[in-house]
Amino acid sequence: KLVDPTVIVVLGASGDLAKKKTFPAIFALFQQGLLPKDIKIVGYARTKMDEEEFYKRLTSGFDRNKKDPLLSKNFDEKLEEFKKASTYISGAYDKDDGFQELNKHLEELESNNGGKSNRVFYLALPPSVFADVAKGLKKNVYTKDGTNRLIVEKPFGKDTESSKDLISSIKEDWTEDETYRIDHYLGKEMIKNMLVLRFGNVFLDGTMNRNFISNVQITFKEPFGTDGRGGYFDEFGIIRDVCQNHLMQTLSVLAMERPVSFGPEDIRDEKVKVLRCIPPIDRKDVLLGQYTKGKDMDGKDQPGYLEDETVPKGSTCPTFAAMVLWINNPRWEGVPFIMKAGKALDESKVVVRIQYKDATPGIFTGIPRNELVMRIQPDEAVWLKMNSKLPGFATRAVPAELDLSYKQRFEDARIPQAYEALILDAFKGDHSNFVRDDELDVAWKIFTPILHWIDGKDSSDKPKPEEYEFGSRGPASIDEFTKRFGYQRDDED
Ligand code: BG6
Repeated sequence: KLVDPTVIVVLGASGDLAKKKTFPAIFALFQQGLLPKDIKIVGYARTKMDEEEFYKRLTSGFDRNKKDPLLSKNFDEKLEEFKKASTYISGAYDKDDGFQELNKHLEELESNNGGKSNRVFYLALPPSVFADVAKGLKKNVYTKDGTNRLIVEKPFGKDTESSKDLISSIKEDWTEDETYRIDHYLGKEMIKNMLVLRFGNVFLDGTMNRNFISNVQITFKEPFGTDGRGGYFDEFGIIRDVCQNHLMQTLSVLAMERPVSFGPEDIRDEKVKVLRCIPPIDRKDVLLGQYTKGKDMDGKDQPGYLEDETVPKGSTCPTFAAMVLWINNPRWEGVPFIMKAGKALDESKVVVRIQYKDATPGIFTGIPRNELVMRIQPDEAVWLKMNSKLPGFATRAVPAELDLSYKQRFEDARIPQAYEALILDAFKGDHSNFVRDDELDVAWKIFTPILHWIDGKDSSDKPKPEEYEFGSRGPASIDEFTKRFGYQRDDED
């Protein structure tokens, strides 16, 4: 556990992630009184900024806090306190002097707090500087008088080998115990609920296996394109951007066996075990897409991927991917796990859909299958599609559902943002919802062969993605693809 007082240093303080996610989450925790009493927030980045400009950046993503019914209550009063607790230092990521200045600054802050020193370093940085920064911090800013923690953001490498290199380079200076690898999907409320849903309900636990389940779909849909991140995106593509990490984490929590306890190592052991049962994805089980111009959800014209100036001409980088994973263990053998992710689609939605097998024929023919649906966002909900008799004299089965919408069922509950939940866990020293090194390694092994194929690394048969219009449901062949793996589509998915 961390002891008061403490400092959180956000490296990459002038960047987008810090603005949109890190600072608003730290402020939300601050507003709720969940951080140590004398917490100090220090921004670090290359950009030279005076205090005024830093405060502007620091607070420019706080709109969400202002709109939140709970956080809006003490917003103004806490904002002033938060600003007073925050300072900024500029410096390079690959030279000692900036880090030394940062260290001096932290010592000054700590001397006002009786010299006690616990430091949390949050790397909201591009992957190219992770290793240098981890080294520079260890050499110049690591405190010997207290606890040190390093929070690292994805992407953790680009394939098995580069991920291994990155892990071992950070490990030269930081122990696994000091390292917190964020995959923010693990902080999402519905993903955290999966453990309870699965293992706290005997009827679900008892049917979540190959005897009852036909197929599972994990779907990620975003209604916007590269949004000015074309340069970054083209280097990674949709599979590295969301599938290998966010959707894979979702899959492992969904499919793992029951852990011995809720303890971090027990949970992560089970996740690693299930991932080890998944062979590398087969090229035949992959569908790739890239968006062309079209209209967004507001009916506004939007350019195609290749029209983004930051995207290299003629790029074949996929902005949509559907693929199938197989889990070779007694529970899941033969059940396809279909992963679908795309940018510039017709809606914003992340959903897990577990489709049961057909009811045994006999008195019913052609009635819809049961489905257990977990909506991760927006508007968390779980529903079970089932058949029910239409009220009236005749006996007629109609599809109906048991509906657990959080907004109705947990009306007064506030759902913390994923980053809030994770930063709080890191402060408490709880690793349960952070990615362990071996977990990362097995996840990369599943994706690396198809990624090398898509990158054109192995041979001349670099795949060409199928085009789809901005604002559509994705490539035209998507329905045929999911049907091939047993999915019966009877309404919107
Ligand atoms: C990020 C990806 O990790 O996750 C983005 O880099 C993506 O491309 C984002 O938009 C999705 O996160 P969320 O929480 O909005 O679903």
